[in-house]
Amino acid sequence: MVVVMAPEATQEEIDAVVALVRSAGGDAFVSRGVSRTIVGLVGDVDDFEALNLGSRGGVLQVMRVSAPYKLVSRQHHPARSVIRVGGVPIGPDTLSVIAGPCAVETPEQTLEAVRMAKRAGACLLRGGAFKPRTSPYSYQGLGERGLRILAEVRQETGLPVVTEVIDPGSVDMVASYADMLQIGARNMQNFALLQAVGRAGRPVLLKRGFSATIEEWLSAAEYIAQRGNLDIVLCERGIRTFETATRNTLDISAVPVVQRLSHLPVIVDPSHSGGRRDLVVPLTRAAIAAGADGVIIDIHPEPKTALCDGDQALVESDVREIADAVTILSPLMGRTLT
Ligand code: E4P
Ligand code: PEP
Repeated sequence: MVVVMAPEATQEEIDAVVALVRSAGGDAFVSRGVSRTIVGLVGDVDDFEALNLGSRGGVLQVMRVSAPYKLVSRQHHPARSVIRVGGVPIGPDTLSVIAGPCAVETPEQTLEAVRMAKRAGACLLRGGAFKPRTSPYSYQGLGERGLRILAEVRQETGLPVVTEVIDPGSVDMVASYADMLQIGARNMQNFALLQAVGRAGRPVLLKRGFSATIEEWLSAAEYIAQRGNLDIVLCERGIRTFETATRNTLDISAVPVVQRLSHLPVIVDPSHSGGRRDLVVPLTRAAIAAGADGVIIDIHPEPKTALCDGDQALVESDVREIADAVTILSPLMGRTLT
């Protein structure tokens, strides 16, 4: 952290900043320039934040030079992590396909979508029982009844369940059915929810908010890690840009950027980013080529009747293309398809 003193700051004000930092257990080094003085702080940035140095006399600006996240950073943990979900590894040596219906509608629709997911190469199944919808009049999901369906389909297909939780009060209930808890884009900065899943004892899939910077996304992951849960997988799912041809713009560069900053696995959602069925296969290929550790894909046996996001749901012919893409590209990227 660096404290920039105002040009008119007095020696007493500079000494007061140094004394305050030392009283908090840190150290401070003063460098005097021609027009202003800078104080470099060494020690725990969080302790310094609590000092509220910006409000002290003679202080012009306080700048944080280290990232606002630690536990999820590669500085803290240089080796890339492997996260296990119901025994299935997600990490740097594997490619994991998570697939299934966007929303659980009926037992038959869910089972059929997950059978299709298996044919696409899935090792984990996805399906939403609590749907975060823009309009309160849109389909909101089956709630706990949907979670029971997911548990039955897990039993039938052997695939562990990834499902979204949307409020802190239902985290324990959702965790009792799920193998992995999903935090959706709309809740990426719901800090109470992040803290609750941090305590839930289940791996977490943290999607990027559609207006979130990478630093905000990793800071959200830090909330989960700070509660003791480092089993986090990050998911790039597209961000809002001026482009209207696609639902969101897949930020493919986020994959290598985040992998350099964080040890956590990074997967891509080619369904919610493009929002169009015809883009899911090309975006899946792009994600794998960019080094993603997996993809999460929407599938529906009859997209025309889907109660949520039918336009992006894959049908049987796409499923075969996904299977080919993941089978051919995984070894080229030095990965085993899980
Ligand atoms: C899907 O999984 C989300 O609930 C969905 O993308 C929400 O979008 P909408 O409510 O704007 O249709
Ligand atoms: C989802 O995957 O079901 C979902 C709601 O996606 P997102 O949060 O990325 O919009």
